[in-house]
Amino acid sequence: MRVLELARKRRSIRKYSAKPIPLENILYAIETALQAPSGANRQPWRFIIVNDPDIKMEIRKTAESWERKLHESDSTPEWFRKWLRERGITWRKEFLTTAPYLIVVIADKRAPYSRESVWLAVGYLLLALEEKGLASLTYTPTNPRAIASILGVPEYYTLETIIPVGLPGEDKVKEPRMRLEEAVYFNRWGSRRD
Ligand SMILES: Cc1cc2nc3c(=O)[nH]c(=O)nc-3n(C[C@H](O)[C@H](O)[C@H](O)COP(=O)(O)O)c2cc1C
Repeated sequence: MRVLELARKRRSIRKYSAKPIPLENILYAIETALQAPSGANRQPWRFIIVNDPDIKMEIRKTAESWERKLHESDSTPEWFRKWLRERGITWRKEFLTTAPYLIVVIADKRAPYSRESVWLAVGYLLLALEEKGLASLTYTPTNPRAIASILGVPEYYTLETIIPVGLPGEDKVKEPRMRLEEAVYFNRWGSRRD
């Protein structure tokens, strides 16, 4: 499948089947991510593959305790609450235990453009997972440090995202995207193609 087709097909999945998937497919996707460009080629990424049920549960419990605070907080804007409600997204993060694998993506803070580089690698990773017919989600925990501590990640690394990977446990329509004409200007801000 061509990159555009894969990109069009990929969508975030928040419910997973517990059916096992080959570890080789996870490694294939990470191998793809390793090909991404990075600031001064420092390759500031690390990936922790988690499939131990006890560790997954510990991650989930910690993540949920912080999510609960966020969801119950008055400072969460109403538009965001509504957006979450419409999608049935709550503080519960079942996918952290039901997905057969979690890929925890970590950035080395000491590298230049560390986060930009790591997220670029995440983009490669998502498309490679899609190519293998695997569902994923870029879950960004409310308190990444609390989860990094569980995994023994040193202080000078930041946990950027936890990506559950598995077979989809829900049938989901892709969120709408902008049309090319809406997103692209020519030569100057706001200037459309003739
Ligand atoms: C940087 C980033 C952070 C995200 N964080 C979360 C998250 O914490 N929880 C979640 O359920 N989805 C998260 N998402 C997924 C987005 O909500 C999703 O990509 C967006 O709504 C578009 O939907 P689609 O991926 O199905 O096309 C995140 C996506 C990105 C790129």
